[in-house]
Amino acid sequence: MPLQPLHLRLVEADEAILDSDNSMDPISAFEVDHVLKLGLCDVLESIADALPHTADASLATIAGRILRNGLPEHVALEEEHLFPMLRRRNAGDQACQKVLLQLEHEHGSDETFAFEIADELDQIAEARAPKNAEMLGYMLRGFFVSLRRHIRWENATVIPLARRTLTEADLFELRDAVAARPQTEDGLQILDTVPTAIATRDKNEPGCPIAPDKK
Ligand SMILES: [Fe+2]
Ligand SMILES: [Fe+2]
Repeated sequence: MPLQPLHLRLVEADEAILDSDNSMDPISAFEVDHVLKLGLCDVLESIADALPHTADASLATIAGRILRNGLPEHVALEEEHLFPMLRRRNAGDQACQKVLLQLEHEHGSDETFAFEIADELDQIAEARAPKNAEMLGYMLRGFFVSLRRHIRWENATVIPLARRTLTEADLFELRDAVAARPQTEDGLQILDTVPTAIATRDKNEPGCPIAPDKK
């Protein structure tokens, strides 16, 4: 996956969001979130590749926080605001209704997995061996493959649909919802770590051994 275009898109979209409250493009907020979540997937892949070692325990801390907070907040923004608007504006479009239903179904399974993985990442963050490295690797891979597919599907369907069909009133409401959510630096922090995570993964370096679990 080419990194530079994602970073450029992030900067452009971030500038659009921060531009001013009234002119902020709320749909860009979802695109920024998607770039950050793809960064999270890269970091999770680097963690999976390094198992049963760890390249950087602090990565596990940030990734765990995003899995517990950033991801559910993004999903809530979609399910409580964006998707209901799209359903209203595309009421006669059966294909659109099916896509939204499928995406909501995926949210449910991804969230369950996200919390389980976050618990396991806490172990790594504390420099303890994962309870079951093989199982964690399997869970991580299943999660990031599914999340990448989900995000790319939303970028290809939901974002263009929102740009085509949402009204000014919808955008106004969406802008309020985006502005009201908690702001954290976790997403940007993880994006900063992506080039290092990928370099480590590509060089196939095992990183530092995790201390045996004393429990
Ligand atoms: Fe989603
Ligand atoms: Fe999304």
